[in-house]
Amino acid sequence: MAAAARKLLVVWCCGCFVLAVDLLLDVFVLTSPFSERIALVFALNGERVEVNAKDVDPTTTLNEYIRSKTKYKGTKLGCGEGGCGACAVVLSRIDTATNEPVYVSVNSCLRPLASMDGWAVTTTEGLGAVDSKQGLHPVQERLMTMNATQCGFCTPGMVCTLYGKLKSSQKAGGSSMAELEATYDGNICRCTGYRPILDAAKTFARDSDIEDLVCKSTPRGDYDHKKYDPEFPAFLKQHKTPETACFQAPGENGVKWVRAASIADVWAQFAAHKNDGDVKLVVCIPDPTASQTQTQPCIRA
Ligand code: FES
Ligand code: FES
Repeated sequence: MAAAARKLLVVWCCGCFVLAVDLLLDVFVLTSPFSERIALVFALNGERVEVNAKDVDPTTTLNEYIRSKTKYKGTKLGCGEGGCGACAVVLSRIDTATNEPVYVSVNSCLRPLASMDGWAVTTTEGLGAVDSKQGLHPVQERLMTMNATQCGFCTPGMVCTLYGKLKSSQKAGGSSMAELEATYDGNICRCTGYRPILDAAKTFARDSDIEDLVCKSTPRGDYDHKKYDPEFPAFLKQHKTPETACFQAPGENGVKWVRAASIADVWAQFAAHKNDGDVKLVVCIPDPTASQTQTQPCIRA
């Protein structure tokens, strides 16, 4: 076990804390059975993804994984620090209280791959495409028909941000125009201008007013979710994320990631690493199920 560490990162993710320790000198020795077993199971556009423990580098983001290891290149990398929304994807997971999926759009540039067990990831390709059998999803279609895209760099993020908001508010009867406008707070477009983007989004609002919109011939109101939305993958419905896990980046200075099952476990990890040098909390990942099922604390730097 390592003796000297440089950084300690704690995040809250899908009901459990995740603790990452950046080791300065020593290497946490991983045995082969641990390295070879499947450590992460998640879905990407409905397809099953399995990642072995030895391949989970705690410094790898979901964005890096999608763009470098899969065929899906629609998700973009812009700022790489959570400011532009070009990397937005939609995550869903079964809420154990209702047994129904819950949805949230996230910046994949900030989301660690190590935290992805049990999640279903949807990128713009998972919603639709002009040359696919299902064609465009209504979110994509309205952005297109209302001229809400120019160079297209921001568009996959705009699509996923809007889709995530529509899905997360679906049970509550949808979103208002003000809520849809606010949902784009974290998305930047360098060239189209925001008016057509916001107009396209507002066509989905429950209080959408035809007089407020420039393009009056565009369809408006909700759409047939059953027809157009990808289903939550069946293989994830019964999936149970192990309460604990540990991954480490290769090399002597590799970051170590420890998933803890409870707050008590988090403090136990702090206690275990109290002599490991510069220890700090740097990130928090909110759990979309938290507001519906329980109150979960977050730790920030
Ligand atoms: S790349 Fe800009 S928010 Fe992720
Ligand atoms: S369409 Fe070019 S950045 Fe938005």
